Amino acid sequence: MTLRLAPFFDPIALDTVTSTNDEAMVLAAEGAAAGTLVWARTQTKGRGRRGRSWSSPEGNLYLSLILRPGRDATGAAELAFLAAIAIGEGIAPLIPASVAVRYKWPNDVLLNGRKVAGVLLESSLGPKGGLDWLVIGVGVNVLGFPKRTGYPATSLVAEGAEGLDAACVLEGFCQAFLSGYERWRDEGFAGVRRRWLGRAAGIGETIEVRLDGETLSGIFAGLDEAGALILRRAGEEDRRISAGEVFLPAAADR
Ligand code: BTN
Repeated sequence: MTLRLAPFFDPIALDTVTSTNDEAMVLAAEGAAAGTLVWARTQTKGRGRRGRSWSSPEGNLYLSLILRPGRDATGAAELAFLAAIAIGEGIAPLIPASVAVRYKWPNDVLLNGRKVAGVLLESSLGPKGGLDWLVIGVGVNVLGFPKRTGYPATSLVAEGAEGLDAACVLEGFCQAFLSGYERWRDEGFAGVRRRWLGRAAGIGETIEVRLDGETLSGIFAGLDEAGALILRRAGEEDRRISAGEVFLPAAADR
C-alpha cells in the first residue's frame, strides 16, 4: 500500500510486533533518522502510560515516530501535547461534525467523552542531558475498543466514521503533526498549549486526579508553561501536577 506522506516521514510497515515503540526505540538507538515511522497491524504487548497495557486488535492504528528535536527533556512533554492535537485534527474530518473532540490531560483524545486515542512517549538523553532521540507512540481505536477499561473507551467507527482504515488515520495524523512540529520548532510551546486548551476536557470544572498515592479533587484551572496541570483547591495554593490520571464528571468531558 502506498501512503500519502510528506517526504519527512520514512514509514516502515510491519505485521505483528510486541510494541511499535519497542521497534522504534531499537531503530532510534541504532541511529535511525528523525521521521522514521514504525507502523504495525497488531501488537502483542502494546503499552500504555503508567504501566498499563494497550489493547491492540487488528484494524486500529499503532504507530511510533522517531524525532531528534535537539532540545532538553522538557521538549519531550511539549511534543506529546502536540501529538494529541495532531490526532484530534487528523481525525476531525473523518467523523461526524456532531461528535465532540476533546483532549484529556495530559495526552488522551476523547470523542463524546470516551477515550479514542492515547500517546506514549519514550526518550533517551545524550551525554550532556539533552534529548538524543524521542519516540512518540500513538494508538488510535479505529474499529475496535476495549470494553472494560479504567476510562470508558470508544472507536472512530463506533462514533459514526465510515469508509476509513488505519492508513487514512495515519495520513491525517502525519499531516497535522508535521505542520504543528514546524510551528513548534519556530515558536515554542505557547501555541501548542493554546490549541490544546481550546479543546481541553474539564477546564474550569471540578475534576479528580489520581496520583500514585492519593486522589485529589479540585478545579482544573489550566496548564502551566511546561504542560503541568494546575489544580485549584479551596484554601490552598494551586498545585502543579506533572504525572497522574484525570477523571472528569460526565458533563465536563464534552
Ligand atoms: C495511553 O493512553 O496510555 C498511551 C497509549 C499508547 C499506545 C500506543 S500504540 C503504539 C505505541 N506502541 C505501544 O506499545 N504503545 C503506543
